[in-house]
Amino acid sequence: MRITSRLADDRAADPGTVYSSVNPARTHETVAEVALTTAGTFAAACATARERQPAWADVPAPVRGRVLGAVGRIVEANAEVLARLVTREIGKPYAEALGEVREIVDTCEFFLGEGRRLYGETVPSEMPDKQLFTFRNPVGAVAVITAGNFPVAVPSWYLVPALLAGNTVVWKPAEYAAASAHALFALFQAAGLPDGVLQLVFADGEATFAGLAHALESGTIDKVGFTGSTEVGRRIGELCGRHLQSPCLELGGKNPMVVTPSADLDLAVEGALFAGFGTAGQRCTSLGTVIAHRSVHDEFLRRFTAAVEAAPIGDPAGDVVLGPLLDARFAARFEEFLGWIGPHHTVSGSSATGRITEDAARKGFTGDAASGLYYHPVVVAGVTETDDIFRHETFGPLVGVIAYDTLDEAIRLSNLPGYGLSSAIYTNEPDEVFAYRRGVSAGMLSVNNSTSGAEAHLPFGGNGKSGNGSRQSGRWVLDQFTRWQSMNWDYSGRLQKAQMDVADVTPDLGFRL
Ligand code: UN1
Repeated sequence: MRITSRLADDRAADPGTVYSSVNPARTHETVAEVALTTAGTFAAACATARERQPAWADVPAPVRGRVLGAVGRIVEANAEVLARLVTREIGKPYAEALGEVREIVDTCEFFLGEGRRLYGETVPSEMPDKQLFTFRNPVGAVAVITAGNFPVAVPSWYLVPALLAGNTVVWKPAEYAAASAHALFALFQAAGLPDGVLQLVFADGEATFAGLAHALESGTIDKVGFTGSTEVGRRIGELCGRHLQSPCLELGGKNPMVVTPSADLDLAVEGALFAGFGTAGQRCTSLGTVIAHRSVHDEFLRRFTAAVEAAPIGDPAGDVVLGPLLDARFAARFEEFLGWIGPHHTVSGSSATGRITEDAARKGFTGDAASGLYYHPVVVAGVTETDDIFRHETFGPLVGVIAYDTLDEAIRLSNLPGYGLSSAIYTNEPDEVFAYRRGVSAGMLSVNNSTSGAEAHLPFGGNGKSGNGSRQSGRWVLDQFTRWQSMNWDYSGRLQKAQMDVADVTPDLGFRL
């Protein structure tokens, strides 16, 4: 299958190179030939988005809400097909892919109702015969650039609220997840979006960056949403900052899980297994380091190792915890992370480290080891706070374990890598929950639950190296895609000056009982 960008009026995109999106479980199988385009086409799509935006904003918000409600229904009716495509293109286990598709439906259901709210306020004035109001205005034309580990759910977190609020969108998905993006685009179009309100552009990172720089310079893009690495997020933040814009950034994480003496250890192991190895450890919310109290450290490690050793690995179409890595680029980078394992570490969780092959087999493995990007899961105990493994995101199936003595130390270790996306604490002591909540720098905290698996209507986002404080999801994301406008209306027939012509009440401040 050959897929191309989807522009307004069925315009053709300028030709660039062709990228093969392959199935990471069988890399000889091409899922789609993706026709990449140029910076010029990206910038032209932004100009069209700018042009079409006022007409879309004129559609009443409840009607826009109904369009997005229809997207949710159409996605739901196509859930299995879309989930199977996600599994085929990025190797996410099918059960997780179905969950990902469900997250789109949840988002649409939430914003269907928001179309009838998008509340502004009436505010009392300090003067008579005068009224104050607030309105939410769309920001304008939005560029959305997304990663491929959540090729359909995370884009929907931008697309649905941005469109609901009356913005137009140019969406640039990851090349290695282009077929999933193309399918999601078709589902949005089927809901009846007017032509050019949503456009899909396939381009590589550099063409996108150049096109975006041009669009910002020409004033055709008013907001950027980006999900991806901290490094690229920084570049986008710098670029937007030059144009006095604040992008919505969702970046990496080094997400800690604290296991306290009162924790239910089996529950913690179950949470760590899903958080560390679901989506092969390639969620931005994946578990980075388990910070276990010294009194439970050895027992936790023993049970965790046993659970990781027993976890089914293989063909993601089947019932497995862990499938292949997303793409060859991610596999190569994961091999670099494995190089950070040193002689002071104790490695467990599988029969080998590195690629699963015939010679380095994994018990119970069900995939095609010769042609899939499968890796042994790794638990690295004995990490120290100066290790690269402790300080940096290791996107892939690798979890570090470190011991702590006091909760203050656990908090310090949680914050030390400088990210701040997700975090978890396993405890049965309420005072520990609240002390940890106050101390941890993460935007999201789970208590007795995995670091991953946030619900689609709570604020999602991070601090530090995980983002610039922007939040997605629920009503909070509306602050990204709308701008407040205040209005005052004086119908007194005279100029009433604020702060100056205000009635004064004289209190007796000397009064005492
Ligand atoms: C991501 O990895 O970019 O909380 C998003 C979770 C999912 C979303 C992850 N609901 O794990």
